[in-house]
Amino acid sequence: MDQAADRPSLIGRRAFLWSAALATAAPIVTEASLAYARLSALGADVPPDAVLINANENPLGPSKAACDAIAQIAPMGGRYDRWDDLDKFTQTFADMHGLKPDYVSVYAGSGEPLHYTVLAFTSPAHGLVVSDPSYEAPVAATKYSGATAHRVPLTASYAHDVKAMVAADPAAGVLYICNPNNPTGTVTPREDILWALANKPPGSILLVDEAYIHLSDEQSVVDMVAQDKDLIVLRTFSKVYGMAGIRCGVAMGRPDLLAKLQAYYQNPMPVTALVAARASLADPDLVPTRKKWIADTRVATINWLAANGYKVIGEPHSNCFMIDTGRDGHGVITALRGQKVYIGRIWPVWPKAVRVTVGTPDEMSKFRVAFKTVMDAPATA
Ligand SMILES: Cc1ncc(COP(=O)(O)O)c(C=O)c1O
Repeated sequence: MDQAADRPSLIGRRAFLWSAALATAAPIVTEASLAYARLSALGADVPPDAVLINANENPLGPSKAACDAIAQIAPMGGRYDRWDDLDKFTQTFADMHGLKPDYVSVYAGSGEPLHYTVLAFTSPAHGLVVSDPSYEAPVAATKYSGATAHRVPLTASYAHDVKAMVAADPAAGVLYICNPNNPTGTVTPREDILWALANKPPGSILLVDEAYIHLSDEQSVVDMVAQDKDLIVLRTFSKVYGMAGIRCGVAMGRPDLLAKLQAYYQNPMPVTALVAARASLADPDLVPTRKKWIADTRVATINWLAANGYKVIGEPHSNCFMIDTGRDGHGVITALRGQKVYIGRIWPVWPKAVRVTVGTPDEMSKFRVAFKTVMDAPATA
């Protein structure tokens, strides 16, 4: 190909992407920004021996194979993305999920495509429908799209109430379903999600966030992407794969849907993230081993809470759960901080409930001691 002849269109495309980025400069709200804003609000100089179970991170970190892959590629890090790493990862991920590679877009975490989906598909005329409580990032993005956010309570079993969600806005642009849900860790049955897909308002899309799907027994809805339905499914390597600080996430959808997200600008992927993610996928034991490790710790903690008369909300199947403390949640969070245990935040709809992330067994035993101490003391505001 004549490179000189190609140059104007390349420059034109870059200029378009840059102007799109400027026109929509919209800070992305993430789990990290929410969790660490809370730490600053606590006036935190976080002590080195603090228990940090506040951001749904995975204390196991990246697998050994992922770390080895990072170490191997690091000396080549003086160059930008070598492109074949992006292609190899995309192909591997697509093959594993029964998709063609152009149905997969890779980002530095799934927070980016989540935010861009809301920007691309909602507007003052086309609202966003979410559950309450659920992950806050989609609603935060409506600040930039001008959309109305319709908040629908969870069902009695703490699933997404898909019938009420579908009815919430006949002109909806996006219906967001987080399965398992952050913060409750509770799941929504696949048949409910398929019902929402079949009955959602015309012109809307379903945004199914499967950040925590590997930690549950729920079946993914990625097969609906292969069937060209109106949905985008998000995955992240921040949770079961322990790569929150390495940054890799994936959006899966029809190429015409994904193209709308890419208009918001995509930074080249760090090669370290691409090789670490591919190495993680290559280990068939990684997900089942980690899923069991996290589930064992979660179940032991929840059993202890129940045995001591504390109320866990619903049946969590994730690396987080909520406790209804029966008192002001902020007060509990602040008092736990005094014990060097940092838990997650509260959601305004349930001001007495606090979110706890599942840490290591040792961290959770420190949490148990601290929680009992705090709850045995009179409530503080
Ligand atoms: C429900 C949900 N979706 C998406 C994300 C984004 O994760 P990341 O940007 O690290 O991939 C998170 C992070 O905690 C989350 O809880």
